[in-house]
Amino acid sequence: MKFTSQAVTVLALATTASCAANVQRRDSCTADVEATQVRLAYHGDRGMSVSWNTNSKLDKPSVAFGKTMQLGGIVTSDQSTTYPTSSTYNNHVIITGLQPNTRYHYQPYCSDRIYSFTTARTAGDGSDFKFAMVGDMGTMGPDGLSTTVGKGAANPLKPGDNTSIDSLHALKESFDFVWHVGDIAYADAWLKEEKGGYLPENLNDKGAEYDKILNDFYNEIEEISRDVPYMVGPGNHEANCDNGANFSLCLPGQMNFTGYRAHWNMPSDISGGLENFWYSFDHGMAHFVVFNTETDFPNAPDEPGGEGVEDAGPFAPTGTQLAWLKNDLASVDRKKTPWVIAAGHRPWYVSTTECKECQAAFEPILLEYGVDLVLQGHKHFYERESAINNFVAQEITNNPSAPWYIVNGAAGHYDGLDTPTYPLVPTSRKLLTVYGWSLFTVHNCTHLTTEFIASGNGSILDTATLYKDRTCDFN
Ligand SMILES: *[C@@H]1O[C@H](CO)[C@@H](O)[C@H](O)[C@H]1NC(C)=O
Ligand SMILES: *[C@@H]1O[C@H](CO)[C@@H](O)[C@H](O)[C@H]1NC(C)=O
Ligand SMILES: *[C@@H]1O[C@H](CO)[C@@H](O)[C@H](O)[C@H]1NC(C)=O
Ligand SMILES: *[C@@H]1O[C@H](CO)[C@@H](O)[C@H](O)[C@H]1NC(C)=O
Ligand SMILES: *[C@@H]1O[C@H](CO)[C@@H](O)[C@H](O)[C@H]1NC(C)=O
Repeated sequence: MKFTSQAVTVLALATTASCAANVQRRDSCTADVEATQVRLAYHGDRGMSVSWNTNSKLDKPSVAFGKTMQLGGIVTSDQSTTYPTSSTYNNHVIITGLQPNTRYHYQPYCSDRIYSFTTARTAGDGSDFKFAMVGDMGTMGPDGLSTTVGKGAANPLKPGDNTSIDSLHALKESFDFVWHVGDIAYADAWLKEEKGGYLPENLNDKGAEYDKILNDFYNEIEEISRDVPYMVGPGNHEANCDNGANFSLCLPGQMNFTGYRAHWNMPSDISGGLENFWYSFDHGMAHFVVFNTETDFPNAPDEPGGEGVEDAGPFAPTGTQLAWLKNDLASVDRKKTPWVIAAGHRPWYVSTTECKECQAAFEPILLEYGVDLVLQGHKHFYERESAINNFVAQEITNNPSAPWYIVNGAAGHYDGLDTPTYPLVPTSRKLLTVYGWSLFTVHNCTHLTTEFIASGNGSILDTATLYKDRTCDFN
């Protein structure tokens, strides 16, 4: 079989089964093309994006797949890219033509294992489901969060406690996908880790420690991301190499969201969005939207002239993101997806410094289009708010018209947890400074429950249910 140079080619291999990647090419699998860091992302309810890294560039990244372990299909692409300072290539393939809510087996070239995924539930499928939300999750272990810290950092792991990656892994059968709402890996913590004596100081390593932390993270989450779709949004720690501390040290390849843009393949192509910066997807009764609180709106904090420390973006002409967000929300069919759930990294209702620019840009739109739930991170604790309209609280049990806000940036990273400012904001309903993540249950079209899972021991430390008074056809 010859592969064409088209971006994506799908072939049914009923008559040419011997050409399946896993069969045909096994003998040419060297360490250089070994698939690592395998990660999935939804691509509509009939598609799945498969991404992975290799030490060498792949001519034609390919994935064999099928409902049975025979893997009768194969898809290839020409997406195998790297960037300055990266020791690996990012490979992306999109499988299309699948059935919704269906389990498939798959195998990237070259992996010696066959994995499986389940495609998204069709919009309008009224069955209950769960998803996981994490914010601000860094590399765990000797280059990140561990049982020790250096000078200037706090909240090491307690010996014996599970990390958030362990905890998500332990419970991965219970949720359909993970939503990581920004701050992914904390490779930019390398400078603080070295300055604090946690890692040996080697400021002239040509970006090697940053790249190592990034690779460690993608290796660590693989035990989750190869089995359930791992959807992401951008955070400030993706922006540059050193969190704005000493900008002159940052090398090309470790600035301006380069690694983040290269690693992921979110479904912006089919939702009118932009790369991994803003996009949306449907899953059963819910429409999920990612917006970008870092760049691409007036006074965006990571842009030159914003807070001024990240010097990133913009990525599209002025006005593009907000126009897209309005249009995306205006086009939601609430009969099929009564729930609209939005996520952006920086919060504006939170008991510490808030992102006023984000509020000015996004809150009016989220209110206008009746978004039900807004998930945010950035602050390293868990704070469940009420539903809120311009600072005025509405109770979630009482059919609120305004979005319910939950801040959870407590997944854990080298630098520990944040201390909130007391008294808490009047809209606050629960605050926890514990490492953990959130598990959401979409029960039906009227009830949606959140649970805060303490990563260390799996305990549920908070539960709350949003009630919306509405009738739905599919129930
Ligand atoms: C801790 O993590 C391990 C590894 O993922 C898992 O087997 C165990 O069940 C977890 N325990 C809890 C309480 O989450
Ligand atoms: C930033 O890094 C440069 C190059 O290593 C160094 O000369 C300078 O003193 C550093 N500045 C700060 C504020 O740390
Ligand atoms: C970041 O990258 C985008 C896209 O290439 C570019 O338009 C923008 O000018 C860059 N921003 C900075 C601060 O270099
Ligand atoms: C929706 O789910 C909630 C929570 O499980 C339940 O109490 C309620 O009765 C359900 N509503 C319908 C119409 O099934
Ligand atoms: C689990 O961990 C949380 C957070 O550290 C703690 O408050 C709780 O007491 C622990 N529960 C058990 C059963 O150990």
